[in-house]
Amino acid sequence: MASSFGAAQVLVASNRGPVSYEVRQDGSLHAKRGGGGLVSGLSAIGPDAGALWVCSALGDGDREAVRRGVGEDGVRMLDVPADVHADAYNGIANSVLWFVHHMLYQTPVEPVFDGEFRRQWASYEAYNRAFAEALAEEAAEGAVAIVQDYHLTLVPGMLRELRPDLRIGHFSHTPWAPVDYFRMLPDDIAEQVLRGMLGADRLGFLTRRWADAFTACCEALVGGLGGTEIGVHGLGADADFLRKRSHEADVDERMAALRAEIGEGRRTIVRVDRTELSKNIVRGLLAYRELLAGRPEWRERVVHVAFAYPSRQDLAVYRDYTAEVRRVAQEINAEFGTAGWTPVVLHVKDDFARSLAAYRLADVALVNPIRDGMNLVAKEVPVVSDEGCVLVLSREAGAYEELGEDAVVVNPYDVSGTAEALHEALSVGAGERAERSKRLAAAGTALPPARWFLEQLDALRS
Ligand code: F6P
Repeated sequence: MASSFGAAQVLVASNRGPVSYEVRQDGSLHAKRGGGGLVSGLSAIGPDAGALWVCSALGDGDREAVRRGVGEDGVRMLDVPADVHADAYNGIANSVLWFVHHMLYQTPVEPVFDGEFRRQWASYEAYNRAFAEALAEEAAEGAVAIVQDYHLTLVPGMLRELRPDLRIGHFSHTPWAPVDYFRMLPDDIAEQVLRGMLGADRLGFLTRRWADAFTACCEALVGGLGGTEIGVHGLGADADFLRKRSHEADVDERMAALRAEIGEGRRTIVRVDRTELSKNIVRGLLAYRELLAGRPEWRERVVHVAFAYPSRQDLAVYRDYTAEVRRVAQEINAEFGTAGWTPVVLHVKDDFARSLAAYRLADVALVNPIRDGMNLVAKEVPVVSDEGCVLVLSREAGAYEELGEDAVVVNPYDVSGTAEALHEALSVGAGERAERSKRLAAAGTALPPARWFLEQLDALRS
């Protein structure tokens, strides 16, 4: 048997991997490396020490890379058939499991679990099986495998059957639904998800709240956690990386351009999100409109810098939401704008350097999701902002557990309350703002990505 084991000592599995490929006009492949917590976490170990990242080929460039045998050390891309991936990712992961955990359904008409759902679920199973088989093939005897997120809930159970010798973990980057909402899923599917995850030795969550919700679902629906351990690891921002990166030349250039858009001497309210239904961008804009309408003293003196980067545009509901964000921003500019003042500066083209420039200029950071696993923007802006910022933070973001004390806290559905919170945040004096921002930065960087990852690895090994 031993001869059939692979070589990897530490494995990570996720839908989106650390690298993606693009086919250039001359036919060459261009690799683009992504950022984020997992990337810096795993690079703390690296391929030389036997670490392997198993991920999905997403799009034509990635598929072409797999076909040509092009790849990076320490990364294995799975070329699951495009239609199977689309059903699993768009159909089940993003339109069902994401909606359940973020409680996004308009319940009088959604969800509808019919024959089409069952067909897509079969693809989700096949997609999860492809990951379990790849991990089983690549893992050395007794290796540790940490599976990521709601795309891959069935992998731990499948992998346990294939390779009982492994130490298996799973980490959820989303909230977990309360039991009454979770049980909207058909009973057999809810059970399959929970039992799939309970195939792991250890399950990780971003906050105690999401961990407790998962435990409650297991107690109500499958008789408890069995032998599976639960851990809470609140991923923090990477202070060293952010401080260095935010002072590079491209960020300085974008700061100059943004300053010109904002105008001299004005306060800035900054938000940076994927254009994601759960981020509550539209209510944030409505709150800003109410601020300008109800407190005219802020007109001409403040600008709302909103970066809303495209996300999941294969789904109509995301495209519609993106259009709504644009529409409301335009309405505000038409209603209040003057020759020298554009109240909302909205950008939709993804640009990391420009995001950092906005962070540096932020007087107020607006983070008002209706539900969010953590929200790293809330942790990043206080680290980067030049003068310190006041954080307006939704109590429904995971980050609230760590940052709530020093933030201006809002109920994300309460538009008037959020308008008042913006006024309060804009009114904080420079000294207090800097103090609060310092405390937020310290709390938000307490568990940097590499430590976050190693902490889980140690827990699984011990
Ligand atoms: O929050 C869960 C998550 O998978 C994050 O890890 C990631 O930032 C986000 O969703 C991205 O989603 P997608 O891969 O669909 O763009």
